[in-house]
Amino acid sequence: MFDISLFENMEITERYEMMVSMLESLIMDESEWITNLSNATALINALIDRVSWCGFYLLKNKELILGPFQGMPACTKIQLGKGVCGKVAELKETIIVKNVHEVKDHIACDASSNSEIVIPIIKDEILYGVLDLDSTEMGRFSELEKLYLEKSVEILNKYIKWETIIQ
Ligand code: SME
Repeated sequence: MFDISLFENMEITERYEMMVSMLESLIMDESEWITNLSNATALINALIDRVSWCGFYLLKNKELILGPFQGMPACTKIQLGKGVCGKVAELKETIIVKNVHEVKDHIACDASSNSEIVIPIIKDEILYGVLDLDSTEMGRFSELEKLYLEKSVEILNKYIKWETIIQ
């Protein structure tokens, strides 16, 4: 059972630490990747406040395809190098965008989005996709969210056999 009220008055770093350890508990004994990525988006969306979209784009046939997510329906395919997700896939580094309207080729899936953070999923130097979060709040994401979302991707990398699911 998941009880969100337990996190309501928790200090932010404590809450994010809990997010990472709960993610590990959720996925460590489950072998289905689609189940694990779905639960990961639900957990992150619940524990990081003021998020309007949270989901995965996975690399397939040299483009990013929409994976499990929480939020409004989104673009189904993103070319490498295009939009923030495509840039992150190319650069292989996290990008924080404080104001998406200032990014020339930002891909707007949800008109209400104002800021974004995208984390690359890289295991053994191979890119498998990205984790993307949006917010309606300007400048929502900071180095703190970057740190804990990168830790979350490390947990996913520990248990998910990307090489067997991604072409
Ligand atoms: N804004 C992203 C596209 C994905 S949606 O935000 C869900 C981008 O520019 O790559």
